[in-house]
Amino acid sequence: MMDLEVLQRNILSRVTANASRLADACPHVAKNGTYDDERIDWWTSGFWPGMLWIAYDLTGRTLFRDAAWPYDERMERRFLEPNRFHHDVGFQYLPTAVIKFKLTGDEDARRRGLFAANFLAGRFNIAGGFLRAWNEVSDPTAWNRNNAGWAIIDSMMNLPLLFWASEELGDPRFRHVAMAHADTVLRRFVREDGSVAHIASFDPATGAFLGWIGGQGFGPDSDWSRGAAWALYGMAVAHRFTGVTRYAEASRRIADFFLSSLEENGVPLWDFRVVPREGEPPDTSAAACAASGLLELAEALPGLAGRAYRDAAIRLLASLDAGYARWDDPADQALLRGATGHRPAGQNVNVSLIYGDYFFFEAVAKLTGWERRIF
Ligand code: GLY
Repeated sequence: MMDLEVLQRNILSRVTANASRLADACPHVAKNGTYDDERIDWWTSGFWPGMLWIAYDLTGRTLFRDAAWPYDERMERRFLEPNRFHHDVGFQYLPTAVIKFKLTGDEDARRRGLFAANFLAGRFNIAGGFLRAWNEVSDPTAWNRNNAGWAIIDSMMNLPLLFWASEELGDPRFRHVAMAHADTVLRRFVREDGSVAHIASFDPATGAFLGWIGGQGFGPDSDWSRGAAWALYGMAVAHRFTGVTRYAEASRRIADFFLSSLEENGVPLWDFRVVPREGEPPDTSAAACAASGLLELAEALPGLAGRAYRDAAIRLLASLDAGYARWDDPADQALLRGATGHRPAGQNVNVSLIYGDYFFFEAVAKLTGWERRIF
């Protein structure tokens, strides 16, 4: 039986050790327990400072606040140079600028969060009703060239930046964009059985739907497990901000498919429909994100229904803790092993990924009573 207080203590002691070990780095991938240092404009740069802000909110210890403080300013500076910011600015600015503003009232952080919301809203394709994924690709041989009409499931987790901006400014424009995109995701990505597509392609000029692309999943008709987790969580959050039941219903359908597709050890493979399955790696980052999303879904549903999703989240976290955490190795910088970044490209397979660590910590914090929300 997992003891949540002990688990949170283990996590906090690793975050404390990392606050000096990782210093001002942008960790993304750890192989054998040692994190790399990515660029500040990469989509994963918000997760480590996000862990520091959660740790600060839980403990009040200023060492966490001081370590997290500079990240949103560094992101803002990077916007003035050639950069790789895209549809994932929500992943970068919600766990930095926006939470910093909520916790400290820092007006510069608020301005940066609103700037990022404007950048994200500016990616909306009115003809197709979707937020554009990624940026222009100059390499004519790249798999993702000609992507002006692409939308991806990951974007669901960036919508809270738009919902927050509407609330902050008392201006519904951002919320209109977020709901239009979420409705396109409902129509084009979420299947009847609760599985989801990764990429939908539209004609960027007319908005006509062209078809699905496998992307980070096994194929156009498969179910990339981290994409499913992004959708499960993102739909639950869209419901929290809007009260619109179709979003909670979609989250529930996705959750049911996710939970019925786990391996015997309670953790998903990187794609629920990969064939053959033998020897395929797990993705613990999908499990961690789904666990935190299930806790949001549980909040949306009354009585026993909500209770069942909360219990499912606890079971996921217990499987991760039992099978993929290394608390007995103080040199390990990561919280979880067994995460998979991009299996079709052979990138970051069976490693530690900072977003897996982030959502693991976030979910455990929610269960121990942390009430603030980043996403
Ligand atoms: N947002 C990209 C991923 O989930 O790998």
